[in-house]
Amino acid sequence: MTAFSSTSITFNNPVTDLLDNGIILIVDDVPNNLKVLSDTLANAGFEVAIATSGESALQQLEHTPVSLILLDVMMPGMDGFETCQRIKANLKTRNIPIIFITALSESVNKVTGFELGAIDYITKPFQQGEVLVRVRTHLKLNQLSQSLEARNTELQQLTQQLEQRVTERTQELFTSIETLKQTQQLMRLVFDTIPHWVGWKDINSVYLGCNQSLANALNLSSPDEIVGKNDYDLLISKEESDWYRVCDRRVMESGQAELHIIEQWQRADGQQIWLDTSKIPLRDAKGNVFGILLVTEDITERQLAQEELKQQKQNLEEALVELQGTQVQLVQSEKMSALGNLVAGVAHEINNPVGFLGGNIQPALDYIKDIFGLIDLYQQEYSNPSGIIVDEIEAIDLDYIREDLPKLVGSMREGVKRIRDISTSLRTFSRADSDRPVACNIHDGIDSTILILKHRLKPSETRPEIQVIKEYGQLPLVECFAGQLNQVFMNILANAIDALEESNIGRDFEEIKVNPNWIKIITKISDNKQKVIINIKDNGKGMNEEVKSKVFDHLFTTKAVGKGTGLGLAIARQIVEETHCGKLSFNSVIGEGTEFIIEIPL
Ligand SMILES: Nc1ncnc2c1ncn2[C@@H]1O[C@H](COP(=O)(O)OP(=O)(O)OP(=O)(O)O)[C@@H](O)[C@H]1O
Ligand SMILES: [Mg+2]
Repeated sequence: MTAFSSTSITFNNPVTDLLDNGIILIVDDVPNNLKVLSDTLANAGFEVAIATSGESALQQLEHTPVSLILLDVMMPGMDGFETCQRIKANLKTRNIPIIFITALSESVNKVTGFELGAIDYITKPFQQGEVLVRVRTHLKLNQLSQSLEARNTELQQLTQQLEQRVTERTQELFTSIETLKQTQQLMRLVFDTIPHWVGWKDINSVYLGCNQSLANALNLSSPDEIVGKNDYDLLISKEESDWYRVCDRRVMESGQAELHIIEQWQRADGQQIWLDTSKIPLRDAKGNVFGILLVTEDITERQLAQEELKQQKQNLEEALVELQGTQVQLVQSEKMSALGNLVAGVAHEINNPVGFLGGNIQPALDYIKDIFGLIDLYQQEYSNPSGIIVDEIEAIDLDYIREDLPKLVGSMREGVKRIRDISTSLRTFSRADSDRPVACNIHDGIDSTILILKHRLKPSETRPEIQVIKEYGQLPLVECFAGQLNQVFMNILANAIDALEESNIGRDFEEIKVNPNWIKIITKISDNKQKVIINIKDNGKGMNEEVKSKVFDHLFTTKAVGKGTGLGLAIARQIVEETHCGKLSFNSVIGEGTEFIIEIPL
């Protein structure tokens, strides 16, 4: 586009041009008139040419540059009017001013002269001063009019040039406007083709425009409809509008763009979608923020895909945890069933010999009684036994035997009873669970477990026996999977023994004796009678915070390789919380001990 250049039009000073007076042609057939006039004019400084007829005047004009003609009207041959007519008909001479000379006596039609182009009349006889004044005046007038004409021509040319320029500029302007329109259309097309919602607002958060996608989202019939509106005027809730405004202000005041603001939004048709919006400050040429550009992308599909992916990941993780749980349970139940089988087998095998023993003790006692009766009878009938017999009676201390043997057999009976109890306990422990819970005595389960672990509680060279303190409450039978619950008691008690053993490291026998190892088992019914609570406490080494946060994790162990697998508590929790819908929790203080709390709903 070309800018208009300023055009200056200059005019020459007309007064200075008047200095050029030129030649004055006097046409008269009377020599005396010629003389008087030419003298007058010559004396006044004019250059003068003369002609005595119209014809000679025309001839002279062909080659003489004349500024003014003084023309006699009445001449023989071509008179003044005709001469005037001819001069005016010639392009070259038509602008020369003509003053007619007439005698006062001549009845000339002055109007005719003026119509032919004359500018003035001088009357004979001449008054010199008048002639000079008129000549000067007309010369000036002519020069002025010529210069005016020249200026006019110049002006016309300038006007033409200006008009030409205006036409050109107008054309350029039209072309520019057309290009601008096309660019605008292209921009609009580009904006409208973008699937993103694009909008722009002024400093007061009033919309200056938007693209078709945003107009569609806001249910507007065209993007122009948004101009002059703010968020509150559109299909946007008040809370959202408030929030957008705060956000807009922050971006415009700080001049910092905020990118990828993720939000949920309800569309005009009620559908919930996810949006990713970037807010960018708009700056003028000087860098001042004058508005804000909003670019929003509908990321619902991406978000849903991500959520699905997250869900799948979670499902997988859950499946993995479940799998690990199953694996753990399988391993443990395999272990338990092997142990159970062994224990059950041993218990069963003990049962028969214990049966014989138990069954034969009473007959044995009867026989002993009979034999002692017989000895008594002998002593009555043969009151003087031989020396050998007396010696033997003394040697074997028959009186002591008589007193002690029944006691001895009685203690054997007690022993058998105890073996039978152990056998019962073993069978209780190794009880195989049915596929549904069965009413069980929790205390039996705990006792049988303690029995299995008895060998680990017994005194050793390094420490006295671990005391097991039972504070059993009155418990009803509890519907449960007894075999699995025994597994829980087993794991918790075994851990307690391990913790006690570890707390003994660095302490000698005597020290331990002063501060003995103990495990306390408290059972009770909750205050609301809704559950059974089994509390297993130890005064072992306790746990630090890190261990506490991981005790229930699969495969977490602080024990040496081969000593612990890190599965015990994971399984215990699974059995208590998943199988029995109960709760397994614990409290522990490092250096003081740990308590595990098993809650089983009734
Ligand atoms: N009574 C307790 N006192 C101190 N720490 C304990 C106690 N019970 C459990 N812990 C800690 O919790 C960890 C996890 O116990 P968990 O029974 O799950 O596995 P583990 O005993 O190491 O191995 P296993 O699978 O053979 O039982 C133990 O290694 C131990 O550090
Ligand atoms: Mg364990």
